[in-house]
Amino acid sequence: MLRSQLAFARQWKRNLSGLFDPKIIKERFDFNGEALPIKALLNRDNSDAVVINGWIDKKPRSVGKELTFSTLRDTEGDLIQLVDHKSLLKSANVEDVVQVEGHLTLKKSKRDSDPVQYELRVMKVNTLNKSTKKPSQLLDFKSQGSYPPEFRYLQLRLPKYQKFLHKRHQIAQEIREHLNCQGFVEVETPILFKSTPEGAREFLVPARNKQDGKPTFYALPQSPQQYKQLLMASGIQKYYQFARCFRDEDLRSDRQPEFTQIDLEMAFASGEKIMNVVEDTMTSTWNKFSSSGALQTIGIHGNLVTANESQSVNRMSYRTAMSCYGIDKPDLRFPDLKVIDMSEFKARGKENISFPVFEVLVLRNAFHTIEEYRKNWSFLSNEHNYRYRAPIVVPIETEELERSWFEKFLPVADFENPTLMTRFLNLKKGDIVCGSTRQPTNAIFENPTPLGRLRQLAIQSSCGMELYNKSEGAVATWVVDFPLFSPVEREVVEKETKQRYPTYEPHMVTSTHHPFTMVQLKDFAKLPKTPLSCAGQHYDFVLNGVELGGGSTRIHDPELQKYVLKDILKIKEPEKLFGHLLTAFENGTPPHAGLAIGFDRMVAMMCGSDNIRDVIAFPKSISGADLVVGSPSSIIEN
Ligand code: AMO
Repeated sequence: MLRSQLAFARQWKRNLSGLFDPKIIKERFDFNGEALPIKALLNRDNSDAVVINGWIDKKPRSVGKELTFSTLRDTEGDLIQLVDHKSLLKSANVEDVVQVEGHLTLKKSKRDSDPVQYELRVMKVNTLNKSTKKPSQLLDFKSQGSYPPEFRYLQLRLPKYQKFLHKRHQIAQEIREHLNCQGFVEVETPILFKSTPEGAREFLVPARNKQDGKPTFYALPQSPQQYKQLLMASGIQKYYQFARCFRDEDLRSDRQPEFTQIDLEMAFASGEKIMNVVEDTMTSTWNKFSSSGALQTIGIHGNLVTANESQSVNRMSYRTAMSCYGIDKPDLRFPDLKVIDMSEFKARGKENISFPVFEVLVLRNAFHTIEEYRKNWSFLSNEHNYRYRAPIVVPIETEELERSWFEKFLPVADFENPTLMTRFLNLKKGDIVCGSTRQPTNAIFENPTPLGRLRQLAIQSSCGMELYNKSEGAVATWVVDFPLFSPVEREVVEKETKQRYPTYEPHMVTSTHHPFTMVQLKDFAKLPKTPLSCAGQHYDFVLNGVELGGGSTRIHDPELQKYVLKDILKIKEPEKLFGHLLTAFENGTPPHAGLAIGFDRMVAMMCGSDNIRDVIAFPKSISGADLVVGSPSSIIEN
């Protein structure tokens, strides 16, 4: 060793002994590896000597000179009372991580019905690491169940989040087992992918190589869609993956920029086959793990029935979803709350010729006094809750209004036969009638429609839940027969007054889902002239108004795929962007179909949470930041 190195080592040793108390270091690193979880103590005898690991859950409380009480919480979130006669816990802080040795004693319970409980007479405490936060601060956060985001790990220690993460793991295990048993093979696909237009904005990763002197980039995959199709070309017959996906889009309670899909694809299979595999897996997993009872669906008579091997999940056409519920992901826990098309009573929207249908939604028996209506329901007509026009909302507050209600809708619609319409609706004092216009039934692209959005707002509100006696249940449906393409919406120009109707770019269409979905064979001939009238072989799995998954039968014919990309979607140089797929299709790719389930959404629903952040260990904030590590960040040059 060089002299300078020796001097450095000596200096380092001196610093170390000055900085660290060797006794504390030993205590922190030299601990018993055979501790028990608290649950395991139930099988132990009173007075057994045991070792338990965990965190100090409650600030130690001294009772007299020689007795201190505290509570220890283990990694499973179970609690045990610590009884300390040796003043070992006096200086312990909430969230200190400790290893405690002691003797078990049965805790005396005042009530016979209390479960058997133990307390631990403490003999030795090893503080494995201190917590430096003020106990009062920690206890405040804990009692609110919410820590500042940068202390996510403290939040995750709470039993609720421990349960969520454990459940997430168990659900993943169950699904893996289910798919493995059916011969699916788990294959990982690259995270460093290529930029291709697939829907959302991509995250780009700078690469070292340059191309023609220009910087080059990888893109993080929005989904493994193209790789899984390449796997079909590679001879894998049944593929699945718990796939990480990345989308740079605005966040909501059910969206994260980084999320997980259960991604599937099968060669030589139709969409029908995929739907069978998925509903089978979903039903059995749901029934095993969900906190909200067995999975339900809509039966042939329109009533709710339990989904099982003999009752498959209902299939609803996009057209029915849009015309009856005003959205392509209807919440069917309330199947009878339907939007009614008033065309058969010769009612017509008159504001915009492209939106000729006038429709209504009636919330029956929703209020008693107008004050109550204003307090509970006025949000339904608040323009801010709608992307375009808000529906007109009329509380039937007098008997006179039971007959003249339709006059309130005259600004947007004409009525040829109001008497018949009134008789049909049979409105009563206390009802709320909501009306709006929409596109013709065979071409509804505004999604949700104003009434679809209103229905969503109503049933998600607390008074709506009360009114419709929200069941805890879960109701699933497939939505099928989506339009293969949608018109391209014009950017909404910020104006003082809100734009009331969507407008579309002429002669431009976009894929409703993605460009790899096959057209329905019955519509194939319409593809060149009227692509907007073609239905796609796409299917969405919808549960309680949430799109849990989506997939399709794919195009595997290279010429047809090229035609869709180039002639319909007007993508310039499709070979440059999608040449890998097109070439694979030219080299014996079998027919294939697939689907992806949003795993975070599924777990959140099974845990009874309405925010996917609850079931993701380190989610991003609403602005896309990870506040634990402080990303994204500028680069520190070293
Ligand atoms: P899609 O884009 O519909 O299809 O995604 C499938 C499912 O993934 C979930 N999901 C999300 N979850 C959390 N945060 C997000 N930002 C997010 N975006 C989507 C949803 C959705 O239903 N490759 C196709 C599937 C296929 O065709 O096989 C795809 O990704 O639950």
